[in-house]
Amino acid sequence: MPTKKMTDKEWFHQHLSDRSTKLIPYKSATPKKFNSSTVAWSTLLLLFVTTSISLAQTTVTIPVETEKNAMVLQTDNEGRLGVIYFGSKLANTTEYEGIPSQYNLKSDNAPTYNSCYTPAGTWNLIEPAVQITHADGNMSLDLKYVSSETKKIDANVNLTSVLLKDPLYANEVTLYYKTYYKENVVEQWSVIKNGEKKAIHMQKYASANLYLMGNDFYLTHYNGTWGNEMKPEEDHLSHGIKSIDSKLGTRANLLEPSAFMVSFDKPATEDEGKVLLGQLAWSGNFKLDFEVDNYNNLRLIAGINPYASEYQLAAGQEFTTPGFIYTFSNNGKGEASRNLHHWATKYRLLDGEGSRLTLLNNWEATYFDFDENKLVGLFKGAKKLGVDMFLLDDGWFANKYPRNADTAGLGDWQENKKKLPHGIGYLVKEATAAGVKFGIWVEPEMVSPKSELYEKHKDWVIREIDRPEKYYRHQLVLDLSNPAVQNFVYGVLDTLFTKNPTLAFIKWDCNAVIYNAHSAYLQKAGLPQSQLYVDYVKGLYKVLERLRAKYPTVPMMLCSGGGGRVDYGALQYFTEYWPSDNTDPVERIFIQWEYSYFYPAIASCNHITDWSKLPLKFRTDVAMMGKMGYDIVVDKLNEKDLQFSQQAVTNYRSISDLVWHGDLYRLVNPNKNPIASLMFSNTDKSRAIVFNYLVNTRFMPSATPLPVQLKGLDAAKKYTVKEINVYPGTSSSIQPSTVYSGNFLMTVGINPDVHLGRASVLLEVNEVK
Ligand code: GLA
Repeated sequence: MPTKKMTDKEWFHQHLSDRSTKLIPYKSATPKKFNSSTVAWSTLLLLFVTTSISLAQTTVTIPVETEKNAMVLQTDNEGRLGVIYFGSKLANTTEYEGIPSQYNLKSDNAPTYNSCYTPAGTWNLIEPAVQITHADGNMSLDLKYVSSETKKIDANVNLTSVLLKDPLYANEVTLYYKTYYKENVVEQWSVIKNGEKKAIHMQKYASANLYLMGNDFYLTHYNGTWGNEMKPEEDHLSHGIKSIDSKLGTRANLLEPSAFMVSFDKPATEDEGKVLLGQLAWSGNFKLDFEVDNYNNLRLIAGINPYASEYQLAAGQEFTTPGFIYTFSNNGKGEASRNLHHWATKYRLLDGEGSRLTLLNNWEATYFDFDENKLVGLFKGAKKLGVDMFLLDDGWFANKYPRNADTAGLGDWQENKKKLPHGIGYLVKEATAAGVKFGIWVEPEMVSPKSELYEKHKDWVIREIDRPEKYYRHQLVLDLSNPAVQNFVYGVLDTLFTKNPTLAFIKWDCNAVIYNAHSAYLQKAGLPQSQLYVDYVKGLYKVLERLRAKYPTVPMMLCSGGGGRVDYGALQYFTEYWPSDNTDPVERIFIQWEYSYFYPAIASCNHITDWSKLPLKFRTDVAMMGKMGYDIVVDKLNEKDLQFSQQAVTNYRSISDLVWHGDLYRLVNPNKNPIASLMFSNTDKSRAIVFNYLVNTRFMPSATPLPVQLKGLDAAKKYTVKEINVYPGTSSSIQPSTVYSGNFLMTVGINPDVHLGRASVLLEVNEVK
């Protein structure tokens, strides 16, 4: 990405009106008050300005490009940097420069709307991206372009950085744009640096500030609650600001995640329309502002939620905001989501290009009611089923206040002697003897008021000392801003691994939100309470960073009483996530469908449970469109169900490469149709798997009167289509020997023949050579 280098002369002309950046070297910049010499210089400068007014202004144009898209930044004649373009990239880079001349944005305010990082308190009267109070109490900030550079990280990844400075105060902001060329994904963040002699206070410190040109914008965002996550809503954005945010603290996504889509001009479909998919990579409070200005363009500001989060920056310190991740497509949501999948598996999700363990979990099978013998019995079930691992869930720990219900014990991470007299080590040994790996559940950020930890370390708990405690699921949150708590949380995991080196899996849960956000630690350290929400997440990441340094590969599930904490901040430490506690398969079709826009299927833990009485085949087929697991008592399965399940585990092994690493195409949307249909195809388009599910139980002779058109195949190739996961004793209505062209399958389609008697149908598509 070319960055225009300016000569000193150009730089001087560029900053004619920019007194202090020109005249005072940054480090010795005199804050606020002018001394006589600066006044003298100013007078000289003014003379210079008048005499050189006829010289041509140099603008700096910075294209931030991926394979298909570009965001272009350009300085105005006062050295302020704005976004002048966002969309498909132009064939000739030099033509970007002329884009503004085609826009007729003339009101007094207009030049401020497109700021690439809108500062508060000076020339801007719209929603800011950054708002600070200087050491002297002044609340104004102006940011002018200083320099930019683009570094090649590798053949696919570039990092563009743009330095902006306040001409008056010694504060600077560097905007970073990390571009993933082939994936068409950009990660954007900013670093705010305090060059003043004393602390400044930041009221707002967004990660990114985009400006999107268009006439109409449609925002898809998600709301939810426990067991009912990821409910989509699409709004036409009108003038004013639409904000989506979270103030929940820990499991910030429970009400609303930061993942969203913006369609340009009209709502995008799977294969048509301009659409931006984005999210903040941050596991705490966030805020996204979508502001339509009076030219109908959209200002998008994404970052940590400023709510109760004023942050103090000491002299010389800098603050790095979390990444805002986005992709843009001209060809609808399908392509945009595949961009994110490709990026996530290659660059973000831990072991995204690797494999995953199938498992048997005991949560819904036993809840808290188990002991050593019962568990050892369940290991045999895991082996019988053919899965890779047994996962021991909640209830294995605490002695003074045993964890026999969700009302006690969190924080006391010692094996419960009554349930597990021989400890975890014995279970690991027995599981290995039974031929399966062993994994374990923890919820290390939490504490039960009924626990020894709470009795010993009330000062480690987030709570308002003089107010009544308020619980979420009978528990409180530990104060991860405190390094001692970080050590404790790290120690919970480190001890488990040290004692049991063959421990194969961790389910890391997080079930409470933060009420009464007060930290005894911050108080003692003399730091503002308003840093708690931010320092909590930073503390969490520190722990995870440390853990990953010592245990880089152990698979870990990111769980939060369902999907309360799924984001690309956390997923760099986790191999997978738990989308919802709701495992009803029909509900899961909708929940998994929506998550699939933002996260690859390899990361989605889908468990087969007894939550619903729908046939086991249906439940299994739904679980297969992600990372499959079980949460049932295997010994309770009847003969046919067991036979079916054993076959299903084998089938899953044979198709898992497609689901984990293939390209996802959504074919029939369950929100608008009686069925859901989606498929994964491999890179050379020689193999695919198509999932079809009935989502409507009203009487219909057939839920699929019409064929389903496949995607992602090669029109010129020949294929057969075979049904798999057929329940024992039933037969398939699909003819496995018929040969179709890819052209036929993608133009006419194939009818999966879904109806009440065949509520789910899995079709394997194989190339015939
Ligand atoms: C949360 C998780 C469940 C289970 C329970 C245990 O709700 O989402 O899967 O682990 O906690 O208490």
